Amino acid sequence: MKILQNISQLATCAPEGGQGEIHGISDAALVWAGTTIRWVGPRSELPAEYNGAERLDARGGLVVPGLVDCHTHLAFGGWRADEFVQRIQGVGYLDIARAGGGIARTVRLTRDAGEDSLYQRARRFVHEMITLGVTTVECKSGYGLDREHELELLRVYRRLSESEPVRIVPTFLGAHVVPPEYRERREAYVALLVEELIPLIAAEGLATCCDAFVEESAFSVEEARRILLAGRAAGMAPRLHADQLSSAGGAELAAEVGALSADHLEQVSDAGIAAMARQGVVAVSLPLASLYLGQPPMPARRLIDAGVAVAVATDFNPGSAPSYHLPLAMTLACTLQRMTPAEALKGATLHAAKALGLEQRVGSLERGKAADFALIDAPDCDHWLYHLRPNACRLTVAGGKIVWRAPGRPGTRELA
Ligand code: NIG
Ligand code: FE
Repeated sequence: MKILQNISQLATCAPEGGQGEIHGISDAALVWAGTTIRWVGPRSELPAEYNGAERLDARGGLVVPGLVDCHTHLAFGGWRADEFVQRIQGVGYLDIARAGGGIARTVRLTRDAGEDSLYQRARRFVHEMITLGVTTVECKSGYGLDREHELELLRVYRRLSESEPVRIVPTFLGAHVVPPEYRERREAYVALLVEELIPLIAAEGLATCCDAFVEESAFSVEEARRILLAGRAAGMAPRLHADQLSSAGGAELAAEVGALSADHLEQVSDAGIAAMARQGVVAVSLPLASLYLGQPPMPARRLIDAGVAVAVATDFNPGSAPSYHLPLAMTLACTLQRMTPAEALKGATLHAAKALGLEQRVGSLERGKAADFALIDAPDCDHWLYHLRPNACRLTVAGGKIVWRAPGRPGTRELA
């Protein structure tokens, strides 16, 4: 049994109330045993039965639920920094893709990388994410795009989930783009996904969700419907890359197939927003991708006002979002999308957990939920996302275990 005390603000992020209600407790304490939270509340109300437990001093820091990055493309070969420069110089994202760059280029580099090097690299990324307070990472395949390499990416994620202390949520994104060798026979690629890969991946338990990129340059609504329904029938929850570069009916399809989430939504229609609200589909905002592509971001306020739960994630990938800095994505959700820091925090915790179907276990600090949390060197959530200093996260606890402790005295605020 352990107690973390002397917490200036503890944001429980409990489900009650709207996007901005994080249910902060001042001068709080948090008790956990094994992997599970036992008690959360004001320190003055700590029940006497916990008096003998081991005590840790938060030194007046902020405690938040372990951050949930609910949308990443974590494992891939190579980088594309030259395309970043080309885009700055005015070349379009899709023009680069048409010239053989973009996703297809990362597919080539990923197929050449080999399983072990993909694993070692993804593992280093995860370690750095942990130092930011992240304790759950969704990981998509989608840079293999054939039987051998899609399975390889999902095996990398399985290995990570066994070796790393954080929760890994694998998603099958065979429907990222049609790979070059199928360009002239795209129905054959859809058939490969539906008839061969989805049943195989489901049978081996290699993915919990099935994602599809609905876009002119990727898959049509009809193709994505077929793929997502096949995934759903095999036990994989649907999710979508929707309405990113054009408004193509992705949000409407997400509602129709009962998707956990629709992600991107920069170009979402009013009808799409209404359909998502009716069906309780989470909108995953990816403001780093909007920033890197110089696009207007998802209209988060319109979605929130319509009653849609908005999550915030990084979209970490080598093209449109080459960063896994989730707190930075949260700050961008504030500045680009006019979400308050509290709304961004609920977005990167409870609502992100909901986008993964994990909201009963993670995403908020409540009795009976996972002891996943981060101690941030800031007096409160507003100050954290406003100042966004490097090394703000002093301590990360995942499954009840300390998995990151910043150098120096844990929880000190004297470094400022
Ligand atoms: O989520 N939208 C499609 N896929 C990625 C981009 C992948 C890439 O450029 O490599 C995204 O933004
Ligand atoms: Fe993505």
